[in-house]
Amino acid sequence: MGDPVLRLDEVSVTFARPRSIVDVIARRPLSDVRAVDEVSLELRPGEVLAVVGESGCGKTTTANVIMGLLSPSAGRVLVRGENVATLNGGELRRSRRKMQMVFQDPYESLNPRMTVGQIVAEPLQVHKVATGIELTARVATALQRAGLRPPERYLNVRPNELSGGQRQRVVIASALSLEPDVLVADEPVSMLDVSIRADILNLLASLARDQGIAVVMITHDMSTVAAYSDRIAVMYLGRIVETGPTLSVLTTPSHPYTRALLSVVPVPHPTQRKPRIILTGETPDPGRIPAGCRFNPRCPEVFDRCRVDDPRLMPTGAAGHEAACWLVGG
Ligand SMILES: Nc1ncnc2c1ncn2[C@@H]1O[C@H](COP(=O)(O)OP(=O)(O)OP(=O)(O)O)[C@@H](O)[C@H]1O
Ligand SMILES: [Mg+2]
Repeated sequence: MGDPVLRLDEVSVTFARPRSIVDVIARRPLSDVRAVDEVSLELRPGEVLAVVGESGCGKTTTANVIMGLLSPSAGRVLVRGENVATLNGGELRRSRRKMQMVFQDPYESLNPRMTVGQIVAEPLQVHKVATGIELTARVATALQRAGLRPPERYLNVRPNELSGGQRQRVVIASALSLEPDVLVADEPVSMLDVSIRADILNLLASLARDQGIAVVMITHDMSTVAAYSDRIAVMYLGRIVETGPTLSVLTTPSHPYTRALLSVVPVPHPTQRKPRIILTGETPDPGRIPAGCRFNPRCPEVFDRCRVDDPRLMPTGAAGHEAACWLVGG
């Protein structure tokens, strides 16, 4: 694998917390919401990185930073080694074109009045990349790559004539039309019927394998990552708390939070079933990050040091596998 196409270097995103009536009544001091907290990651061509974690842990905010829809409050985003904050004009547009996003809801993200052909052609027209015969050819190639074959059958069809899975393929084709280096898929199958989820996840994994596209697959569902990702980053309250090759993380999870997420994943053989780890304590709030290890109030394995010292990612011993836990590096 080559040099990273994308690198986040200690990226943080802080939002000003809106003051709610509950805050006023409870006389809560206002704190900022630190949605993403010093996240570093790297992505190489052809690699699928799964970003997993429960609702509100900062997955979409991370995706928005990668896509350049949000600027980091601190840290740097490097695309092909270049800091995007220093790019301007044409350079920035070219760099943006190479990063495309697949959204969660294929019912909302497609204009019902446009045909599939028009939808997939639109990014090429907006970015003035192709016209005429070249435009038609690139639309057909994108449809084909997204598994809509033969492409002619779909060109004049409108989204309402398609199934959820086909719609998501149109969304993917539209992202592929610009021949991106990086595809960020934010919960790409959560709105789809269970029976077709594997098809879409397989498609994304094959785009990485066959076309060398780097894919960031965002999900809250641990059970979908095993077969489709090369590496995993587990997020908790804005931080990556464990990361490594998928197999290593799934077989030897080193952070108690990862173990808890995995304990509720259904397994096919009843004999392999492990006891479920039920997390207790308050649901995490990025406006009030606990002192010490941020997971400590809910951690079944908490000890004294966890309440005072904030652990950073430390090597677990397995290649490329790191966890932010004092049980690992204490
Ligand atoms: N524009 C914003 N202004 C203020 N707070 C925000 C904003 N966007 C996100 N947040 C907060 O930042 C935190 C992370 O949100 P984010 O949407 O990144 O989480 P997520 O992991 O994608 O969750 P989900 O699984 O529900 O999609 C949440 O607490 C959210 O309320
Ligand atoms: Mg989200």
